[in-house]
Amino acid sequence: MRIAMIGAGYVGQVSGACFASFGHLVVCVDTDADKVARLQAGETTIFEPGLAELMAENGKAGRLEFTTDLEAAVRQADVVFIAVGTPARRSDGHADLEYVYEAARRVAGAISGYTVIVTKSTVPVGTGDEVMRIVAEAAPNKEFSVVSNPEFLREGAAIDDFKRPDRVVIGVEDERAKAVMAEVYRALSLNQSPVLFTSRRNSELIKYAGNAFLAMKITFINEIADLSEKLGTDVQEVARGIGMDRRIGPKFLNAGPGYGGSCFPKDTLALTRLAKDANSPVRLIETTIEINDARKGFMAERVIGACGGDVTGKTIGILGLTFKPNTDDMREAPSLAIIDALQGRGAKIQAFDPEGMTAAAEVLNGVDFADDPYGAAAGAAALVIITEWDSFRSLDFARLAEIMERRVLVDLRNI
Ligand code: UDX
Repeated sequence: MRIAMIGAGYVGQVSGACFASFGHLVVCVDTDADKVARLQAGETTIFEPGLAELMAENGKAGRLEFTTDLEAAVRQADVVFIAVGTPARRSDGHADLEYVYEAARRVAGAISGYTVIVTKSTVPVGTGDEVMRIVAEAAPNKEFSVVSNPEFLREGAAIDDFKRPDRVVIGVEDERAKAVMAEVYRALSLNQSPVLFTSRRNSELIKYAGNAFLAMKITFINEIADLSEKLGTDVQEVARGIGMDRRIGPKFLNAGPGYGGSCFPKDTLALTRLAKDANSPVRLIETTIEINDARKGFMAERVIGACGGDVTGKTIGILGLTFKPNTDDMREAPSLAIIDALQGRGAKIQAFDPEGMTAAAEVLNGVDFADDPYGAAAGAAALVIITEWDSFRSLDFARLAEIMERRVLVDLRNI
C-alpha cells in the first residue's frame, strides 16, 4: 500500500520505517524542513536502538521517503496516518489537539480517491468523530474513512514493540476501512500478532486506559516500596511474589523515583480531564498523578537525608538523567525535579548520562556534565542513581570510594 505518515517524531519515524519494512511505500511528512533534510540525509533525529539501520535499509530500497510536502504525499496515499504531537495543554491539562485538527484539514484538501485517514496519535475519545466532521466539511464530495490505531511503543524498545506487539488495536466504523487496515497490518497477522478490531471510540479509550493502568501499577509498587522501607521488607521480593500471579504479571513492578516520559504524564492527565468532562471522574488516576508528582520531590529529601540533612555547598553526583534507559528523552524525567530540589537546597550538581546530556543541557541550569560516571562522582558527598542504564550496574566501588568525599550511594532504582 502507499502510506503517508504525517508527523516524523518518535511515533512517525518508527511507524514509518516499520511499515516500509512490511513492504509498504511510505512517505513521512514533517513541517520542520531541517528535520526533513536530516532524515533525507539518513540521520535519525531521535535515539532509538535499531531505527537508523531500519531507515537506511528501507530508504535504499526506495520504500521510505521524507518530505515537507504534505499535499503531494497525501494525494498518492491509500492510507494517511496522523502521528503528530498531542501535548498536554499548559492551561488545563487537556490534550492539545490543534496539530491533529490542522493535519486533518490539510489532508482533507489533498486526498484523491478513497483514502483511509488514521489517527495514530494518542487522542481523547471522540477525536475520530471530530476528524470525520472536519474532513467531511472540508472535502464534502470525497470518499474517505476515519480510523483509530493507537501505538503502544515503549521508547528504547519501539521497533520490537511495533513488530512483535501484544496486540494491534484498530477502531473502525466501516468494512471498507477494515479491509484496508487488515492489509496494512497483514505482515503482523502472518506472525500471529492478534489484531483487535473494535469501534473507533473503544480504540481511543483503550489507549488511555492502558497507559493509565500501567502508571497506576507503577505507583502502586512505589508506595509498597516506601512501606517496605518502614517494615524492613524487600520491595523487589514482594514485587516478584505478587507478579507470579498471572492476573498481576511481573512487568511494570519495578519501584523507582516515579514515572516520567512523553506519555504517562500527559495521558493520565488527559484521561482525568476527559473523565471529569464526562462527569465520571477517575479518582484512582487522579490520585496516581498526585502521588507521582509528590514522589519526585520526596526523592530529593531522601538524598538530603542520606547526606545528614543538609546539602548546602555540597557536591552531589547524579547518574542518569533521561526518563528511562535506552533513550535520549528528557520529557518529564524525574531527574529534572530531583536536581531542581537539590539545587534549591544549595547543592552543586555534577551529572553523567550515556545519551541524554545534550537534551538535558537544554532544560537544566548550573549542572556540570561529566564524561563518565566517575567524573560525576569525583568529590561528591553522595552519588545518586536516577536512571537504570546498564552501565551503572557494574560500578567500580573501590574507585568510587577513592574519589568521593563521602561514601554515600543513593540507588533510586534498586539496581
Ligand atoms: C509508555 C507505554 O509503555 C507505551 O505503551 C506507550 O505507547 C508510551 O508510554 P514509555 O513512556 O516509552 O512507554 O516508557 P515505559 O517503559 O512505559 O516507562 C514509562 C515510565 O515508567 C518511565 O519513567 C519508567 O522509568 C517508569 N517505569 C516503568 C517504572 O518506574 N517502573 C517500571 O516497572 C516500568
